Amino acid sequence: MEVTSEVIIRPERLDDIPKIHALTIAAFLNAEHTDHTEQFIVLRLREAGALTVSLVAAVDDAVVGHAAISPVTVDGADVGWFGLGPISVDPSRQGAGIGSSLMDAALNALRELGASGCVVLGDPAYYSRFGFRVHRGLEYPGVPAEYFQAISFDGDVPSGIVTYHDAFAATE
Ligand SMILES: CC(C)(COP(=O)(O)OP(=O)(O)OC[C@H]1O[C@@H](n2cnc3c(N)ncnc32)[C@H](O)[C@@H]1OP(=O)(O)O)[C@@H](O)C(=O)NCCC(=O)NCCS
Repeated sequence: MEVTSEVIIRPERLDDIPKIHALTIAAFLNAEHTDHTEQFIVLRLREAGALTVSLVAAVDDAVVGHAAISPVTVDGADVGWFGLGPISVDPSRQGAGIGSSLMDAALNALRELGASGCVVLGDPAYYSRFGFRVHRGLEYPGVPAEYFQAISFDGDVPSGIVTYHDAFAATE
């Protein structure tokens, strides 16, 4: 998928891995609400075979954006739902639509995989523009309810407590 004449959205390749790591560190360096562990989360998800979707925004050989999606459980069960994030755009290229293109492409990839839905933790104003909404009953304890949103691909939103992959606890 071509975003501008120079930015291409595509699945990650082996040689992107160190670039994704560096990009993730850079993107979250001055971000709010971060423990600066996102780069480790991406590594551990990949190691665990849980990086269901991993898309890069590439400019020639450079990686300027990345979006990760991994499975989540609801009340401990696999119900075909996934979690979006971390998502990162090179600070020098933020605000140019790359994040939106990654979001659209990542959600499309999930739909094509037959996913039932996706959750996201983050700024409600940003994610609502992609169709995410707060759904009472689908909960992520510990954060204000408006920061946890969901989008259903099959019309149903499950009820219960959402748990991300163990890799989200990674600190190294
Ligand atoms: C969040 C992020 C991925 C967005 O990427 P981006 O390429 O800057 O996004 P876009 O250019 O597509 O932005 C689309 C719109 O969202 C707005 N926006 C961007 N980040 C936002 C945020 N954190 N909160 C609210 N709105 C935001 C932009 O101003 C833009 O608005 P506009 O269309 O009215 O001009 C990027 O800013 C980033 O890497 N941030 C640091 C890491 C982070 O916080 N990731 C998200 C948590 S996992």
